[in-house]
Amino acid sequence: MRRTEALRRLVRETVLAPDDLVWPLFAVPGQKVRKAVKSMPGVFQTSVDELVADAQAGYEAGVRSVILFGIPEKKDASGSEAWADDGVIPRAVRALKREVPDLLVMTDVCLCEYTDHGHCGILKRPSAGGPGQDLGVDNDLTLPLLAREAVAHARAGADVVAPSDMMDGRVSAIRQGLDAAGFPDVPILSYAAKFAGAFYGPFRDAAESAPVVAPGVPTDRKAYQMDPANAREALREVALDIAEGADMVMVKPAVPYLDIVRQIRDRFDVPVSAYHVSGEYAMIKAAAERGWIDGERVMLETLLCCRRAGADFILTYAARDVAATLTGARR
Ligand code: PBG
Repeated sequence: MRRTEALRRLVRETVLAPDDLVWPLFAVPGQKVRKAVKSMPGVFQTSVDELVADAQAGYEAGVRSVILFGIPEKKDASGSEAWADDGVIPRAVRALKREVPDLLVMTDVCLCEYTDHGHCGILKRPSAGGPGQDLGVDNDLTLPLLAREAVAHARAGADVVAPSDMMDGRVSAIRQGLDAAGFPDVPILSYAAKFAGAFYGPFRDAAESAPVVAPGVPTDRKAYQMDPANAREALREVALDIAEGADMVMVKPAVPYLDIVRQIRDRFDVPVSAYHVSGEYAMIKAAAERGWIDGERVMLETLLCCRRAGADFILTYAARDVAATLTGARR
């Protein structure tokens, strides 16, 4: 059954289509800003005007969904620009809804791009711990801030909010916040199984969100993101998030964690997504630049395999290029 292309196509079990792709975009303040992210060829920090132009081009190539990350004007201890109605994300959402009305706009809900310490929640006050204690993130004090951020995004017109902070109870806090503010129809895509690993480095360049090195500030996110060694725990995280009101769940990173995607797919009936993260993207780009692999084919195969493992959709920095290839459109 493998002898001809027609036969192979007839019995093919999985397809990758532009509809399965979500394109992450990075919004910065200003105008006419287009700054290349060095560790991610083809990815840019863009001001809202340029971001709209990219989204438009992506849409024409077949990309129907984007997810937005924001880099604020200034950062502070609580990440207050995260929930400002005139912050960079609400402005980007409003512009996209105006200029590319049929595009699905998701927003990442997290504080790490907005806090001056780079953590995904606010830090415990020093009085909270004894001498020599690692203070870390204050889970419960962070929840209302995430809810405010999600509401600000919804008010601007976001179609889906996607919390990536990994605080316990945040899906429920966000759901209640959205409902109370009059946005019962805005679904939540939960980064339910997000692993603390080494694959996010290039993203932290792009989002300027690496934890700072300072006394009392944890140097990593291991106290809230998951241990890469754990799979059963990922299923518990997903069950909790669904119980709290998550409409869709995500596994992140993608390829090293496809066993988790498969287990979630088999166990739960909500849409499951995989985030092919910055480090995974950068590895393919780097090897392709050296001529060691065929980057385009490896990218297509990688994303197809995410689908085969059970992902309904995939967040990928290659979305526009892949969509253009799949639709046969010129880039
Ligand atoms: C914010 C967030 C991160 C990513 C998405 N949302 C980084 C992190 O946890 O430090 C990573 C995406 C990527 O690496 O492509 N919490």
